Order: sequence, then C-alpha cells, then structure tokens
Amino acid sequence: MCLLLRRVNAMRKLLFLSLILFLGSHLSFAQSVAHKRAERMGVGMNLSYLDNYWLGTKEKNFSDFVKPAEAAKREQMLADIAKSGFKTVRLPMSFGAWASLKAPYEWVTPESLIVADSFVKWALANNLNVIVDLHHTELDGSVPNAAATERVVSLWKRIAERYKGTDPERVFFELRNEPHDIPAKDWRDQAEQIIKTVRGIAPNHTLIVGFHDWNSRAAMIDSKPFEDKNIIYTFHYYDPFIFTHQGATWSSEGLPELKGVSFPWSKDAKIETPATAKGKWVENQINSYKNDSDSKKMFDDLQAAKDWSEKNRVPIFLGEFGSFGKHPTMPDRCRHAETVYSALGKLNIPSTWWEWDGGFNMFEPGTGKIADCMRKAIDSYNPSKQKSY
Ligand code: BGC
Repeated sequence: MCLLLRRVNAMRKLLFLSLILFLGSHLSFAQSVAHKRAERMGVGMNLSYLDNYWLGTKEKNFSDFVKPAEAAKREQMLADIAKSGFKTVRLPMSFGAWASLKAPYEWVTPESLIVADSFVKWALANNLNVIVDLHHTELDGSVPNAAATERVVSLWKRIAERYKGTDPERVFFELRNEPHDIPAKDWRDQAEQIIKTVRGIAPNHTLIVGFHDWNSRAAMIDSKPFEDKNIIYTFHYYDPFIFTHQGATWSSEGLPELKGVSFPWSKDAKIETPATAKGKWVENQINSYKNDSDSKKMFDDLQAAKDWSEKNRVPIFLGEFGSFGKHPTMPDRCRHAETVYSALGKLNIPSTWWEWDGGFNMFEPGTGKIADCMRKAIDSYNPSKQKSY
C-alpha cells in the first residue's frame, strides 16, 4: 500500500514537472517580443516609389530619382491604405542610391532622406505599422561597390541612427530586400554584421530578415535563424511565377513575352511557350503548371514555411506576393490572391501585398478602388471578421 502511494506521488510529481516545463516553453514562445509584434502586423501593403531608383540618372548612380511632387502623392495613399483596412505598410526604399559609393558613404541627396522621413511619419499618423525596408541595395547590378558589406553596414548605421527614436512597437527595420547574386554564407555574414551594428544603436526595434536567393521560401527553409531573438523572418511567394510574372519586362527567359496563363490551370486554356522560353526554366514551369497552380500544393508550400517557423520558434512574415496585372484577367488574379490569402489566414502568417499603386495593384482597372473580387480575396484571410484583419 505504502509503495503504491509513493508511486502515485512520484507520478504526480512527474506530471507536475512536465506541466511546468511545457508551460514554460510555450509561455516564453508566446511572449517573445517578435512574436507579439508579428501578431499585430496582420494584412498589409507595400507602397512602392522610394525604391524606383531606375527613374534617376544612371550617370549619377540614380541618386536623383526622388521627385518631390510624385512623393507628395503618397501622403493620401497612406491614408487610403489605412482606410482600406490594412494594418501594416512596407516601405521599400533604395537608400543605397542616396549615399556616396566611397567611404564614409555620406548621403549625397539628403533631401531624399527627408522624403523618406515623411513617408514614415505619414504612415504612423494613419496608425499603420511601418517597415523601413532597404531595397535594391545592388541597384541595377552595374554600380561597383553598391552592395559591399562595409557600405551596407554603414548605410544601416545611418538608417538606424535616423529612426532609432521611432516607436519600436510600430516601426520595423528590414535589413535587405531579396539578396541575390551573393552566396548564402556571404549574405549571412553581411546580415550578422548589420544586426550587430543596428543593435548597438536601436536595441528594441524588431528586425525583419530574409535569406539569399531573392528571399525565397526555399532559402528560408534551408537556413537557420540568427542568434538575435528580436527578429521576424521574411520570405517572398510569387508562385506560380509564370502566372504572377507573365509579361514582366524586368524578368528573363521568355517571361516578358509570355501571356495567356489563367489561374488555376485549365485544360481549355493552352499556354503557348514563347520562342525565348524554349529549353529554359519558364518552359519547365509551363509543363508543371497544372500541379503548380493547384491550391493544395500552394497551401502546402505555405504550410512548409509555417512548419519552419514553428520548429525554430520564430515568427515569419510574407513580405511580397501578388500578380502583375498586364495580361491576366481580374477574376484570375483574384482567384490567385484568394488562394494565398485564405492559406495565410489559416496558417496565421502576416503579409504585405505587392503593391498599392504600381503594376501589381488590386484596383478595378482604370479606378483607384480595390476590385470587389480582390476585397473578397482579402477577406478570406479572416472570413469571420471581414474588414478587421
Ligand atoms: C521589386 C519590384 C518588382 C516586384 C515584383 C520587387 O521586389 O522591387 O521592382 O516589381 O518585386 O517582381
């Protein structure tokens, strides 16, 4: 009898200990600052323009691309983004175009920085969370030294100094958009140096960090988180690429010439392979389109990202997704958007759509109003609450 009682007590202790351990690990998981802030990001939007370095003069290394009158229009746009129910705005900014190419890399067009400050101020005035995103660091790839580690770290020193006084609950720092043509290890080394520098200046701001190969999902899943705990990890999802980028002149291998890709695949809509795509990656994508545009396959892709986030106990954020509006019909684009939004909702992954007013916009053609079927797609993120994401 006594032995039995002892065993029962020992079992109870074991159970109690397991409960404490379980709660401990889960509570620290739930309470991470980065997780809490990611939770509040919800459904968001990219506002392009301050990334459009190509509007500048090549001989001036694009430093002159910001035009005050164009920039000023964004004040109203930020109000419209907030009014449309988005909670977060990602501000892609080509800070690298505004700084000298030679050490100590001082600002050469300080007036552009003042415009950047206004964007942040206007976004905050509309109660949006704001992502200050260092975009197109490498510019068009032809400017020597543009993305050298010493220069990028120095850019971040200046950016962090500039925005360290902003509310860390609302303002996020994204280290570098879509690093490419840089080996995984070199990007990791560069990111580690940036993190160390920013942390010395802005200890409480949450960083947003993606991986090599254009912030791809696969690169994230292949990578390990950094040591810093206050990081939200980002990835981009433009799958299926031949749907989202058909007609994209800035792409290659036949994408600029590609058209007529509906969503999802249908046996009645045969996709013509452009001559420029023959034997290229795009032709393979055309051949696998039936599977690639399947909603279950796309859900599984996003589920794999979520699995990585749970396994590593770090929050994730989809920083870019969307479709170029040149060729596809609005109903096709909406079906694609709904496939992604509804998966993001089920998996609780915050996101920012690419983009508010450029070629990927969600508007009814010829208007500034979000198309009804796009609204329905957005609402599929959170079907029970509508408008409040
Ligand atoms: C680039 C844009 C491009 C978009 C979709 C972004 O990361 O900055 O220039 O339109 O991706 O391809």
